[in-house]
Amino acid sequence: MKTIQVQLDQRSYSIQVEPGLINNIPEILSNHNHGQKWIIISQYRLMEFFGFDLQLNLKNAGFDCDFITVPVGEAAKSLNEFSRIISQMIDMRCDRSTTILALGGGVVGDIAGFVASSFMRGIKYYQIPTTLLAMVDSSIGGKTGINTAEGKNMVGSIYQPKGVLVDPDLLNTLPREEVISGLGEIIKYGAIWDADFLNNISIWLDDLNSFPLDKAVEKSCTIKADIVSKDERENGLRQLLNFGHTIGHALEAHLGYGRIRHGEGVALGMKCAGWISSQLGILDKNQFQNLTTTIDKLTLPKLPHMDPNTILSFVKNDKKIRNGILHFIVLDQLGKGNICETVSDDLIINSLKVIQ
Ligand SMILES: NC(=O)c1ccc[n+]([C@@H]2O[C@H](COP(=O)([O-])OP(=O)(O)OC[C@H]3O[C@@H](n4cnc5c(N)ncnc54)[C@H](O)[C@@H]3O)[C@@H](O)[C@H]2O)c1
Ligand SMILES: [Zn+2]
Repeated sequence: MKTIQVQLDQRSYSIQVEPGLINNIPEILSNHNHGQKWIIISQYRLMEFFGFDLQLNLKNAGFDCDFITVPVGEAAKSLNEFSRIISQMIDMRCDRSTTILALGGGVVGDIAGFVASSFMRGIKYYQIPTTLLAMVDSSIGGKTGINTAEGKNMVGSIYQPKGVLVDPDLLNTLPREEVISGLGEIIKYGAIWDADFLNNISIWLDDLNSFPLDKAVEKSCTIKADIVSKDERENGLRQLLNFGHTIGHALEAHLGYGRIRHGEGVALGMKCAGWISSQLGILDKNQFQNLTTTIDKLTLPKLPHMDPNTILSFVKNDKKIRNGILHFIVLDQLGKGNICETVSDDLIINSLKVIQ
């Protein structure tokens, strides 16, 4: 088993990565079971895949374990669902000692984490990610949140889990497009942090069927844990994780959530951000070409015609704008991200041609 530490003083926790780990969860958590209620928050289909077995194993090991399901898709990250879960937990007689197990992708992790951060002023929770994107990104670092009519993740908190339990075997049932979406985030780690890793990813992508997902998950978790440990609240270094996200989010918002997956938007956004970096004379043109070649190995959705000004208006509404300044993530070189505050509107608009 690979164990990776997120170092945040009293809020430190470990990420455990091991194929088949889901079967060992009762054993892993046994020291933390003091007779309290445990609630698995998941989606019904994921309960059928893995959740009912997990619940049974926990019950057999003496855990008092219930479950709550949320709908599939972004709709689950809503104020309505939030209040429904809270009511259900009160009905189930949950209290301050209750511990949540968030079993699912980023959607489940985000809403379950937000519930954990606010139920009775905060209760313990563990992330058990089931998508590639959740394993390498959303389950680590404590960002939780829900959407409002005005936008994604408008309400939320930074509230760290007590642990992240990653079983790469759960990816066997994950649809290919969801795997590709997660690979978008994995490429991001190589691009901003580790050129050798990026190089390996590029080679591995030549045959997706034999891509060593468990190795890539371990490495990505290590990079994310390292960055979050140094900058939990995104005052500096953690901003690098937004590479590809400014334009990626704008694409998601413009095309409509559900039309393009998060990691797909990030992959396309990284091509634009790479192009911007090379136009600014920061990133060598050959290195930009390498990045593009790697991203193009992913099968990404074909984009309809997009209005560049609408994309720009979404960029301007981005949460990464602080005091009116856009903190755009560029690459100094492959494996080295940086923050740039002087990316012009024209450059953003022109960059869209590399993805259309
Ligand atoms: N908190 C963070 O730091 C952070 C970071 C990135 C993204 N996010 C959020 O994550 C969300 C996207 O997460 P996602 O990409 O995991 O999508 P998701 O949670 O919607 O899951 C994608 C689909 O895969 C299905 N699924 C999940 N695991 C499966 C499995 N093992 N086998 C078969 N099907 C499975 C789900 O039911 C769903 O239909 C967005 O809401 C985004 O805002 C949060
Ligand atoms: Zn992301």
